Amino acid sequence: MASDSPRAFNFSAGPSALPEEVLRQAQADIWSLHGTGIGILEHSHRGKTFDKVLFETFDALRKVSKLGDDYEIILMPGGATVQFALLPMNFLRPGDRAAFVDSSIWTRVAYEQAVKQVPSEYIWSAKATNYDRIPKPGELPDCSKYAYVQYCTNNTVEGSQFDGPLDVNAPTICDASSDIFSRPYDYSKHAVILACAQKNLGPSGNTVMFVRRDWLERSNDISPILSFRENAKAESRLNTPNTFGIYLIGVMCRWLLAQGGMDAMGKRNAEKAKVVYDAIDNSGGFYAGTAQPWCRSQMNVTFRIANHALEQRFIDEATLLGLDGLTGHRSVGGMRASIYNAVPLKACVALADFMREFQRKNG
Ligand SMILES: Cc1ncc(COP(=O)(O)O)c(C=O)c1O
Repeated sequence: MASDSPRAFNFSAGPSALPEEVLRQAQADIWSLHGTGIGILEHSHRGKTFDKVLFETFDALRKVSKLGDDYEIILMPGGATVQFALLPMNFLRPGDRAAFVDSSIWTRVAYEQAVKQVPSEYIWSAKATNYDRIPKPGELPDCSKYAYVQYCTNNTVEGSQFDGPLDVNAPTICDASSDIFSRPYDYSKHAVILACAQKNLGPSGNTVMFVRRDWLERSNDISPILSFRENAKAESRLNTPNTFGIYLIGVMCRWLLAQGGMDAMGKRNAEKAKVVYDAIDNSGGFYAGTAQPWCRSQMNVTFRIANHALEQRFIDEATLLGLDGLTGHRSVGGMRASIYNAVPLKACVALADFMREFQRKNG
């Protein structure tokens, strides 16, 4: 049943690589789940078989996140951008102001969704340096006047990454879409944590939300389908949810736990990132990273070739060798190797070898 055709090393930024074990499990469960003779795509979202899938996904998410019962887990449709729009609707009241740390395109997208609804401000921006950095301690203002401050842990586009929770004197909302569960991180420092699934958690179109219960309890009374509180009350199946997405997030989280959870992933991802960054740093200027070395991402390694004219050749030759998805984000160009949890060390080694060989031939 399972296909054995060759697979490429997938460096795509999302949707992105999934572990082989997860894909093989999904292949089997699409045919017949738990011996029912009915596949996961065909089971009713109200049936007993799906009940088990749903509760196992909640359970695995709680274990891997290390968050306690003071957080509700909600599986929302619509990707991260939809949640960006729902956050102000759910949590802000007349007179409230929202603040954003402008360290990546994704906080700008979040700001644009919020500013149509409530007064919203940037409290810091990396725009002047082409988004190559995050704020250093002491660079953020007093935030006591804001209802919340939203930031993005990992800049998927320009490749910078926070090394710990944002430290401000206001509740924080954390967009962890592109580095969730990739290293030890204290998620309990936030009021809300959200992550679209298509990088470290599974298929696109699904978003995992962890919301502090006290926030949910005092959230606004809005249309039920847009309300985090009502979705939580209905166990994330107020209407027909993306059952396959919920299933696959569970399989991914159990795979993560079997690898050793966030701690083990952190060690593995640091080793993987070092292999690729070493190829950049030891290239004598042939390659240049686009993020500042002190805050560069372990998930999205972004780089340019000093002679930009060689970049398309680099991408084309890499693709022919089975190193896929290396094109930089359309807004910035260059190259990007997304090395999420599911990307193995051997893919990073193959990429670094290719980078050295390409430099030898073209340097
Ligand atoms: C950090 C981050 N936040 C949000 C998003 C947007 O996610 P979606 O396309 O699911 O709305 C992305 C997508 O790449 C992302 O990298």
